[in-house]
Amino acid sequence: MSELTLRPAVETTAAPDIDMTTRLGSVTFPNPVFTASGCAAAGQELDQFFDVSELGGVVTKSIMLAPRSGRPTPRMAETPSGMLNSIGLQGPGIDAFLDKELAWLASRGARAVVSIAGGTVEEYAKLTAKLRGRAGLAMIEVNISCPNVEDRGQVFACDPRAAASVVQAVKRAAPSGVPVFAKLSPDVTDIAAIGKACVDAGADGLSVINTLLGMVIDTDTMRPALGGVTGGLSGPAIRPVAVRCVWQIRQALPDVPILGMGGIRTGLDALEFVLAGANAVSVGTTIFGDPTAPIRILDELARALAQRGFTRFEDAVGLAHQPPVVHVPEGPDPVGDEPAEPEHRPVSFEGGS
Ligand SMILES: Cc1cc2nc3c(=O)[nH]c(=O)nc-3n(C[C@H](O)[C@H](O)[C@H](O)COP(=O)(O)O)c2cc1C
Repeated sequence: MSELTLRPAVETTAAPDIDMTTRLGSVTFPNPVFTASGCAAAGQELDQFFDVSELGGVVTKSIMLAPRSGRPTPRMAETPSGMLNSIGLQGPGIDAFLDKELAWLASRGARAVVSIAGGTVEEYAKLTAKLRGRAGLAMIEVNISCPNVEDRGQVFACDPRAAASVVQAVKRAAPSGVPVFAKLSPDVTDIAAIGKACVDAGADGLSVINTLLGMVIDTDTMRPALGGVTGGLSGPAIRPVAVRCVWQIRQALPDVPILGMGGIRTGLDALEFVLAGANAVSVGTTIFGDPTAPIRILDELARALAQRGFTRFEDAVGLAHQPPVVHVPEGPDPVGDEPAEPEHRPVSFEGGS
């Protein structure tokens, strides 16, 4: 029996007449919906529910040079509208990843966005060099939310110079024609400044955002709920923070491609990111409860765009930055027979407190 016949029916009919293609750096993807790193491994588990090559791309779990076992258990805690995880970067190491997972994605015709993580700039460069000439590699996402072992564990993504040095090393080692995106942490005062440092260092685009640092205390044991004490908060709880980050980066860096993510559960959630300025979106935590979510969200996004009169996805990117237009109907022209043309008047607005 073929794998396809085992898949449950998933409504994937894209809305008609919508050009869903999107450009991230030098690569054009057939649509803007990707998985989020760490939430679908390398896509094999999703493939029993839908054909992963139908997504814009599959972002793989961040891979390091050597195999790693991750952080102590428990590694997950529930929070209101979100999830706290302290998986750590558990994984098989780059060589096994290339032979098994990337090779599998390539065999399925999927576009792989390989996420890499390291503890030193040198490690990132070595990982990138190993990606040269690999089939299926469409893009590299650089997870810089890692402690820099050469700088007292300071997280690369929280320091513009450290973030820039990683990006520069990755760009030097990266295969030509493969865009390099730096994945930013929201746990900073000025995310646009970190994004600019990455772009100045050569990043072709920015992935926005990684999880927020959080903590849960178990009131029965009266101790931290996670073995790793702190963890990364994801899911719907972080969506407004993520949308704000995308918005700020689009304002500061109008021409830089953005892969937006954080709590996306529906096509309308995805549309929010697109209107804020995302050129594509990643779907993460919601996959744990609904493995069909990425393909469903693609369908819902296409329909939402069609309902709003779009024929091209790209026309919606960053639209919320344009001043709102209000429809001001006027009474009949007092002298002429023809009713007056309605006036479209832009409205200005200021931020809140
Ligand atoms: C269990 C889990 C593991 C994750 N692992 C990674 C990872 O390996 N690399 C990375 O860059 N982000 C990782 N993330 C962060 C997600 O890719 C994403 O940026 C974040 O969860 C926000 O999106 P979401 O709310 O849709 O999950 C992980 C998130 C979760 C929940």
